Amino acid sequence: MNFDLKTLDLTAAASEKCDLLIVLIAEGFKPGRDALSALVALALKNGDLSAKAGKHLQLYQVPAVAARRVLLLGQGDGTARATRQALQAAGSALKAPQTRRVVVCFGAAEQEGAVSAAVQAVADASYVYTTTKSKAEARSLTRCVVGVREAAGAREEFGSGVALVAGVEFAREWGNRPANHATPSLLADAARSLAKLPRIQCKVMGPAEVGRLKMGAFMAVARGSEEPLRFIELRYNGAAKGMAPVVLVGKGITFDTGGISIKPAPEMDEMKFDMCGAASVLGVFRALGELQPAINVVGLIPACENMPDGRAVKPGDVVTSMSGQTIEILNTDAEGRLVLCDALTYAARFKPSAVVDIATLTGACVIALGGVRSGLFANDDALAAALQAAGDTAQDLCWRMPLDDDYADGLKSNFADMGNVAGRAGGSITAAKFLQKFVGDMPWAHLDIAGTAWKGGAAKGSTGRPVGLLVQYLAEQARSPQARSKVAQPPSAGSKKKPAGQRAARARSGA
Ligand code: BES
Ligand code: MN
Ligand code: ZN
Repeated sequence: MNFDLKTLDLTAAASEKCDLLIVLIAEGFKPGRDALSALVALALKNGDLSAKAGKHLQLYQVPAVAARRVLLLGQGDGTARATRQALQAAGSALKAPQTRRVVVCFGAAEQEGAVSAAVQAVADASYVYTTTKSKAEARSLTRCVVGVREAAGAREEFGSGVALVAGVEFAREWGNRPANHATPSLLADAARSLAKLPRIQCKVMGPAEVGRLKMGAFMAVARGSEEPLRFIELRYNGAAKGMAPVVLVGKGITFDTGGISIKPAPEMDEMKFDMCGAASVLGVFRALGELQPAINVVGLIPACENMPDGRAVKPGDVVTSMSGQTIEILNTDAEGRLVLCDALTYAARFKPSAVVDIATLTGACVIALGGVRSGLFANDDALAAALQAAGDTAQDLCWRMPLDDDYADGLKSNFADMGNVAGRAGGSITAAKFLQKFVGDMPWAHLDIAGTAWKGGAAKGSTGRPVGLLVQYLAEQARSPQARSKVAQPPSAGSKKKPAGQRAARARSGA
């Protein structure tokens, strides 16, 4: 999809040729002297339109308006949140196959975050998964013009919004791919493809190197599968070399059968989404490649399948993690924490300013928070606050959960330093307590995205969350004065690197 930003008032919007012109009407709308304004004012006066977010009135072939269809759309109080809500309600108009070119025009000066929210919402409505369909029904909506009062002032936010769309769609694409089209090796290829972007490097390790690192917990999970494991290491170098990076760790279970502790058949297909944490890390790097913020980021992805097999790890087996701590694997379906714990140990070598792991870790988190907020766990209040705030800004919400040491009691084992499961009670918290045993004193946060990374039912598919939250967090970190003082020189001309603005403006979304 192609996005463009233009300076448009309602007079100018009326002469934009397109299939659908969406006019956002916020509360307190002040009509100008133009024809569209007059229409809106009349519709509001007669009660046929309300400025409530998502209320709308559709018109056809309006005299003196170049667009074929016009959608007058209530924008509520005009905030980012209300703008997104409004455009979500306009989903069916945006998704209609005859809608190829759309213009979204703000009826009044736009609030901070609203332009980015509009870009997100339009991209969201127009996304279609095609990779494994024989008759590729391409997305019909291919061009979107965002009309604002003054394009220059909105340029930066617009560019960030477009970059974020590219990241979210990359994450959705890899989340959605069936497990036989998204093996650990294919995930590694996807990561390598990101190294084409400026300032991004990728390194991939296989079973031999991971064996040498003694990642015994990760290897135990991979044992039951014919697909070789991969350990993916991405780097984005946007700041000086000496600047401590943020490390992101994404759970990359490309299919989770449960292993010998096998899962029941209903809905097991959804366990292809068990690499959505990994996909979100890939999506973040896709966005960083566009945004080029002044920060260093490392992405780590332990990727493998969790399968039952003659060689698979068995309940009761004890393995030694990279940290040296031994683990009694009481339930092979609690595999996410096993691949993550070794990746967290590995993360320490980067001396990170913060480590954030992202994982579809527990069904218990779905029960606790549903699909609205991701679970947030952290051993550091400032990090937790920054992530929660980033989620609020990006409208990609999370909620902090407790980490009292008492929750770790159930992890005690008679045969190893710890078991890999506690009882059913507080399952998302005991999982986080397990991970915490591997982070030492690094500032660490864990996002349990089991409820938010994908939707089931008729709308089954990956959401791309929490790419929005993470990119927002990293952008804030890059803006902090401490980070700015150590900014690296921008890459020299003639290399593969182009200025960020150019790329963002021309960016096409999609993988
Ligand atoms: N990938 C699952 C978590 C999951 C389950 C996410 C359902 C979304 C929906 C994870 O590997 C798992 O199986 N966790 C177990 C842990 C239990 C054995 C302690 C769970 O949540 O049931
Ligand atoms: Mn599992
Ligand atoms: Zn899993």
